[in-house]
Amino acid sequence: MKIFSGSANQKLAESVAKKLNLKLLLPEKFVFPDSEERIRIREKVVGEEVAVIQPLTSPVNENLIELAFIIDALKRSGAKFITAVIPYLGYQRQDRVFRSGEAVSLVVVIKLLESVGIDRLITFDLHSIKIPELFHIQVVHLSALAIFAEKIKEIKEKNMVLVSPDMGGIRRIKLLSTKLNDMPWIAIEKNRDLATGSVQIEKISIESKVKNLKNKTVLVVDDMISAGGTIVKVTEFLKKSGVDKIFVFATHPILSQNAPTLLETSPVEKVFVTDSVFVPKEKRFPKLEILSLAQTIASNLK
Ligand code: R5P
Repeated sequence: MKIFSGSANQKLAESVAKKLNLKLLLPEKFVFPDSEERIRIREKVVGEEVAVIQPLTSPVNENLIELAFIIDALKRSGAKFITAVIPYLGYQRQDRVFRSGEAVSLVVVIKLLESVGIDRLITFDLHSIKIPELFHIQVVHLSALAIFAEKIKEIKEKNMVLVSPDMGGIRRIKLLSTKLNDMPWIAIEKNRDLATGSVQIEKISIESKVKNLKNKTVLVVDDMISAGGTIVKVTEFLKKSGVDKIFVFATHPILSQNAPTLLETSPVEKVFVTDSVFVPKEKRFPKLEILSLAQTIASNLK
């Protein structure tokens, strides 16, 4: 197998290659003055299995096109089987028409990637478990929950409760609860204004296992932190409900806009994320801890 990386997260790609005892290969890239990109594969890949690591994070469109060019170049160079490792699949939240007249952007992204020739996708913690059904190739849908469970076991607090910040996360929170000896959980009913993106917290869902949060240590678990609005509103709600300490676990640290400042100044003790998305130095903050997906990816590429 040969392993390539696009520009979006070379650090993660290097860790994966190291775990597989392989040299990380980088395509030759040239950017023209008008911002067009030219991609070239220098290595011989005829008849080879190859993997390309590229999360679809900011700048999303550039990283998407770069990935498509890399796959096309590999295909034309004779690669036999191409696995795209897209730890964070951009556009996944646009998986259906929410308001009439909208594009289903995720379907367009899938068509593009499939048309250039990916044979298999490896990805993590998709927003909806229905997303793999939109593909016509094999999708290996992995999760950071096992890594989070190990970290949670290190938090030596009493009265811990898992929290899903929305109803869509109930499946995730139940799985995590099972990994943690049936740790009690709650789910919060959240509403988002589809035009402005603003978040309102309604109440604790009636399906929840715990009704009183006084003096509890809560572990909020989400798939991603984007602009940080969800975590801010949820922590305000939890504090008003009397919780003691709050820890946050989220697979994808998109951290757009001023999310780093919002999280650092929030009452949260720590924010655990993964390296599915590269977090540049200017977006890191003292409460942030990054856990690596490299071993999980490497084990699934063997
Ligand atoms: C939404 O349903 C997701 O699970 C996340 O809660 C959401 O995308 C986070 O976005 P933000 O940080 O902008 O509130």
